[in-house]
Amino acid sequence: MKGVVLAGGMGTRLRPLTRVTNKHLLPVYDKPMVFYPIQTLVEAGITEIMLVTGGNNAGDFLRLIGNGEEFGLKHMNYAYQKTEGGIADALRLARHFVGDDKVAVILGDNFVQGSVRKAVQDFMNQPRGAKIFLKEVPNPQDFGVAVLEGEKVVRVIEKPPVPPSNLAVIGIYLYDASVFEICETLVPSERGELEITDVNNEYIRRGVMTYEVVDGWWADCGSFEALLRSNILVARERGVDI
Ligand code: G1P
Repeated sequence: MKGVVLAGGMGTRLRPLTRVTNKHLLPVYDKPMVFYPIQTLVEAGITEIMLVTGGNNAGDFLRLIGNGEEFGLKHMNYAYQKTEGGIADALRLARHFVGDDKVAVILGDNFVQGSVRKAVQDFMNQPRGAKIFLKEVPNPQDFGVAVLEGEKVVRVIEKPPVPPSNLAVIGIYLYDASVFEICETLVPSERGELEITDVNNEYIRRGVMTYEVVDGWWADCGSFEALLRSNILVARERGVDI
């Protein structure tokens, strides 16, 4: 299985922190943000990884991560996103890298405390389709939200003003290679992006979506509060009394 880390975007919600650098290069406790999702993939047993980024700071990622030696990798693959088109748009750039393989996609600003290794192994044995990860949160309106009926996820709704559940769809997605064909069918949302939520709803429509509820904390860095929270959670994890 291949891994793709999505580290593009303008980070507009974090300006002025992101005025002269990419969000994923900002510090989270003692490491640049992007280190954590790479670590999550490597820990899950994924060693062929592509990082997708764009904008003016793309070269900084090369200098920072190099060939991935620090993560125990033999090499690192990169793709450059010329325009800002959303998560599903960025993922399209990994098509040739992934080929007919399965792919674990992780957003470069997402942190999980626990391991996704077991879920990745389960997905290797899933003949086709996709798997998403869910987490109960107090502010589901800020995320993609899952609607469950019994044991099945029947729909995902992107940032619903009135959330149908408190289960957020976190930024780690496991897909078979049909994800690229699905990405080609998407139309931009109201915020002008190709939404990963639309990809997930297509897999649900096809009846091939599974999910896991993650143990431990999950955090992203979409806002100042979320970035601060991520810093605190990671620092505490290292035994810092904060
Ligand atoms: C994105 C996804 C959303 C998901 C979130 C996780 O939101 O669209 O479904 O819950 O990442 O971090 P965005 O950060 O693009 O607003």
